[in-house]
Amino acid sequence: MSYTTTFITIVLSQFLLQVATTLASKVPAIIVFGDSSVDSGNNNQIATVLKSNFEPYGRDFYNRKPTGRFCNGRIPPDFISEGFGLRPFVPAYLDGEYSIADFAQGVCFASAGTGYDNATSDVLRVIPLWKELEYFKEYQMKLRAYAGRKKANYIIREALYLVSIGTNDFLENYYSIQSPRSSQYTEEQFQDFILRLAQNFVTQIYHMGARKISLTGLPPMGCLPLERTTNYVSGNGDGCNEKYNNVAKHFNVMLVNLIQRLNNELPGIRVVFSDAYDLLLQMITKPSSFGFQVASVACCGTGLFEMGYLCDKLSPLTCTDASKFVFWDAFHVTDKTNQIISDFLMKYVFAQFL
Ligand SMILES: *[C@@H]1O[C@H](CO)[C@@H](O)[C@H](O)[C@H]1NC(C)=O
Repeated sequence: MSYTTTFITIVLSQFLLQVATTLASKVPAIIVFGDSSVDSGNNNQIATVLKSNFEPYGRDFYNRKPTGRFCNGRIPPDFISEGFGLRPFVPAYLDGEYSIADFAQGVCFASAGTGYDNATSDVLRVIPLWKELEYFKEYQMKLRAYAGRKKANYIIREALYLVSIGTNDFLENYYSIQSPRSSQYTEEQFQDFILRLAQNFVTQIYHMGARKISLTGLPPMGCLPLERTTNYVSGNGDGCNEKYNNVAKHFNVMLVNLIQRLNNELPGIRVVFSDAYDLLLQMITKPSSFGFQVASVACCGTGLFEMGYLCDKLSPLTCTDASKFVFWDAFHVTDKTNQIISDFLMKYVFAQFL
């Protein structure tokens, strides 16, 4: 190599290093809203029966700690935070073990069992989405007091907002036996209603400073072990509830259109669609191609219906190696499934923010 080429190579690699460093600091924090798919322990602090801060939950988490995550290990925000070079987990806002110094890098306002609709959070008396927003306001005040106005505004503007919610609006609310919503709205109207609430929510956090926002689509919710069991008990075979899967697919298409509109209408916003529907369905239909052995039932207990308090550490049936299972309890996936989904999202959805 000639002197000139060497020189150019050095200058160029320094330049690239600088670019890389600048890019690496592009997401200073992960801020999470939603339900049990992303709740890292807020429900521990409220009066609800929907909790998971006991064994066997968390048995593959750091220090084998049951944190209130509905999982044997970590959930997507944890993996995504790690993927951005931040802490390998995102703490819950209501957890007294953490302070604003921790939350400055990542904070979770999510609550298991909640939905876009107030009627959904009422079912299990969990934190409604409007209350998650109140906490976010309070957080902003604390952050400004802690980091100063300028730095706080930078964090709020450049953070990645993960919004993962919606499944409970359908499964716990609209399709549950005593839902007032099902007499009030047709299925189509209810989807429109939820979509409007999603639009309002994104617009609200945008006006509070959020710019990089991920909206999670609905999963193939008819394949959750609990829904398969219900399907079976109703005499419809032991497969997935295809009606629920179709609702999810239809709603996700509407969500894509909404995201396009939001990106066109709100200056500076970048909303992305975190869609794991197909990937999760592939894991469920072809578990072995991902290294799983079981996808139709969950690890915990019989795997047919247990979650929350029913997922009991004394059950002799609970599997010993959760990494062989797609589902951890009858409603939630395992650490390994969350990792596969998060890796996929990092690569195909969030790479633009790296
Ligand atoms: C949900 O409840 C809050 C607090 O009562 C209220 O401000 C909000 O308008 C309600 N949202 C809907 C869609 O009814």
